[in-house]
Amino acid sequence: MRHISVLFNEAIEALKLDEHSVIVDATLGYGGHSGGILARIKEGFLFAFDQDSEAISFSTNHLNEIGTNFTIIKSNFCHMKEKLESLGVSSVDGVLFDLGVSSPQLDDDHRGFSFHTDSRLDMRMDQSSLISAYDIVNTYDKKELAHIFKIYGESEFANNIAKHIVETRKIKPIETTLELVDIIKMAVPMKMRLHKHPARQIFQALRIEVNHELDVIEPTLEQALSLLKVGGRVVVITFHSLEDRIVKNYFKRVVKIDDKVKGLPNIPEEYLPNFSLVTSKAIVASDEEILNNPRARSAKMRVIERIK
Ligand SMILES: C[S@@+](CC[C@H](N)C(=O)[O-])C[C@H]1O[C@@H](n2cnc3c(N)ncnc32)[C@H](O)[C@@H]1O
Repeated sequence: MRHISVLFNEAIEALKLDEHSVIVDATLGYGGHSGGILARIKEGFLFAFDQDSEAISFSTNHLNEIGTNFTIIKSNFCHMKEKLESLGVSSVDGVLFDLGVSSPQLDDDHRGFSFHTDSRLDMRMDQSSLISAYDIVNTYDKKELAHIFKIYGESEFANNIAKHIVETRKIKPIETTLELVDIIKMAVPMKMRLHKHPARQIFQALRIEVNHELDVIEPTLEQALSLLKVGGRVVVITFHSLEDRIVKNYFKRVVKIDDKVKGLPNIPEEYLPNFSLVTSKAIVASDEEILNNPRARSAKMRVIERIK
């Protein structure tokens, strides 16, 4: 399945691009947003990160059809600052994050992200990383499994699913996605399976754990903000309430006026925050976008700008 970029127009507009903009796309994916950016920055430059080599090889061809003023960096975006510095770049006009996985990653039969098709349990976005969903499912203890299912998957059956996994793997390792789906189904009451697929939340939880998705958000936002020129913006699209909470709280913290001077009639310049929120409430997809692309339903976009 091809990837449809979520909140495309909103993200492009939020980046306030001009011909000369230097932009980082932290999550290149299938190049939808990057393509839109590149088409608008004829005299500027795009640095695009992804840790997935399949996404990179697809997007390289796609971006080459639009322009040549870009560099793709195969890396976790948590190395953003160091990677850009090694290319001589110390400041940029904008950074875009479109977090999570792309539709081709989810739907590709051999990546192990999908609970619809059978494949080895994998779920690594970076195919060279060492820990896959197989390792987690077969080695984490019951408490650890239940914890990630509860916290990352928000599953009310976390304990029971963890118990079933641990029981089953005593007989033989759990090798494939559909073996895991069968175990999950056994652990979830029939009537709870009618509205949504019982494996959805568990697969989401495993994916977040395999890729350390939540751990890298705040440290990378910190790097992204430190790279911004005055007037530059960081735009973040999230798909999970825990991701959004991290972004929201971090942005709130960096725009806060220091308690020491809050309420003073004239706040000295050095105490004023360096950043200002562009979106006080998260931007969400329109009904029309959700109709065309159900993935957009859970998307939230937040934007912050460097003001000094
Ligand atoms: C939702 S997709 C991006 C889609 C893209 N904006 C588009 O319009 O085609 C997210 C992409 O970010 C990548 N990704 C997620 N977390 C990452 C991280 N920590 N470091 C590098 N790439 C990451 C995934 O591999 C995936 O390709």
